[in-house]
Amino acid sequence: MFHTMECFFKLLVIMSMLKLGLSITTTFNVLHYGAVGDGKTNDSPAFLKAWKDVCQSKSTTSHLIIPAAKTFLLRPITFSGPCKSNYIYIELSGNIVAPQTKSEYSGSHLNTWIGFSFINGLIINGKGTIDGRGSMWWKQPCIGNPSPGTTCRPPTAITLNRCYRFQIKGYKSINPARSHLTLTSCKKGIISNIRLIAPGESPNTDGIDISSSRDIQVLNSFIGTGDDCIAISAGSSVIKITGITCGPGHGISIGSLGARGESDIVEDVHVKNCTLTETLTGVRIKTKQGGGGFARRITFENIRFIRAHNPIMIDQFYCVNQMVCKNETKAIKISDVTYRGISGTSLTDKAINLNCDQNVGCSNLVFDRVYVRSAVPKMKVFSFCHNAHGRASHTKPILNCLLK
Ligand SMILES: *[C@@H]1O[C@H](CO)[C@@H](O)[C@H](O)[C@H]1NC(C)=O
Ligand SMILES: *[C@@H]1O[C@H](CO)[C@@H](O)[C@H](O)[C@H]1NC(C)=O
Repeated sequence: MFHTMECFFKLLVIMSMLKLGLSITTTFNVLHYGAVGDGKTNDSPAFLKAWKDVCQSKSTTSHLIIPAAKTFLLRPITFSGPCKSNYIYIELSGNIVAPQTKSEYSGSHLNTWIGFSFINGLIINGKGTIDGRGSMWWKQPCIGNPSPGTTCRPPTAITLNRCYRFQIKGYKSINPARSHLTLTSCKKGIISNIRLIAPGESPNTDGIDISSSRDIQVLNSFIGTGDDCIAISAGSSVIKITGITCGPGHGISIGSLGARGESDIVEDVHVKNCTLTETLTGVRIKTKQGGGGFARRITFENIRFIRAHNPIMIDQFYCVNQMVCKNETKAIKISDVTYRGISGTSLTDKAINLNCDQNVGCSNLVFDRVYVRSAVPKMKVFSFCHNAHGRASHTKPILNCLLK
């Protein structure tokens, strides 16, 4: 019996070696499909034609080449799977620019400029720049109050929807109309060494939005933008954020959760070795009144603030429009949040602000070696708690308002 098993495994090894030996890479260059790359011609039809072949190819890895030294103008486009290859490798060496008029966005169903949907094994790698040319959207008077179906709603630059096993690295995104990069319902992804850049005053230009996704890592990247550098929202779990340099921007946020009374869940988030410079908030958990669900097992570790406005914040009364928000009896439960090895300076006096819901509250908040100083001469920083439970050690400003 044992012998048979051994033979069986040997056979397996030989078979997989054969498979590796036979694995093929097939390459498809957008230029061979009529893409021009002059920054003026709409290259979307050519990209879609190339994509069709990439996605139909049965080789182990299928490459889409976007060559260097060219700039491709793309109208809203979605690269859809499932594809036949195990890996879809997009070599992003050239640059991509967005249209300059809103009318060219008609047909953008996912409210995204460039979408990737239902793709397994997607790899996007390259030093190309993706320019969302967002400024025409930023000036709209309706911004911040978008209604669906109107041209008012700015598109995200890149959206990955239902992608499994993906890697994104190396590229640069500038000036998106809305968020730089959005993940929805994705699993097992690594984002690394990217740069996301937009002016600090550009509205709603989040760096990376993660929602309904699991097992995602964001590593060693620079994000300087107008809204959250990274926002982790409903339905996300096992999220690792490491080595992020953020600022300008609104910091690294969990939420907002509980919009429209929904039951939202975020758990197992680990934010580590990040530097936040002159951000509106530093590390923040924001939930709206009403709704159920929880945010739990969240760790912020080795974080450095340089002149952050509100370095550490839990806001269970998060509200975009003060006119319509009211306090409810329900809220998202926040628990098991650890702040460890944090240092830096604050531009406002409420350096640690733990504003938890009256009924639900926050439990097991752990502070250890957290030191936030004032960035402003003569201003004294302090800690604030409202129904916050937990314990603190080696923390300044002194955190004696935590309840047992
Ligand atoms: C921390 O992050 C920076 C990038 O912000 C990186 O250069 C450095 O190697 C990281 N250090 C550790 C210990 O991971
Ligand atoms: C909700 O309750 C909080 C905490 O008691 C309070 O600070 C806030 O003003 C209330 N908000 C409204 C809209 O009543």
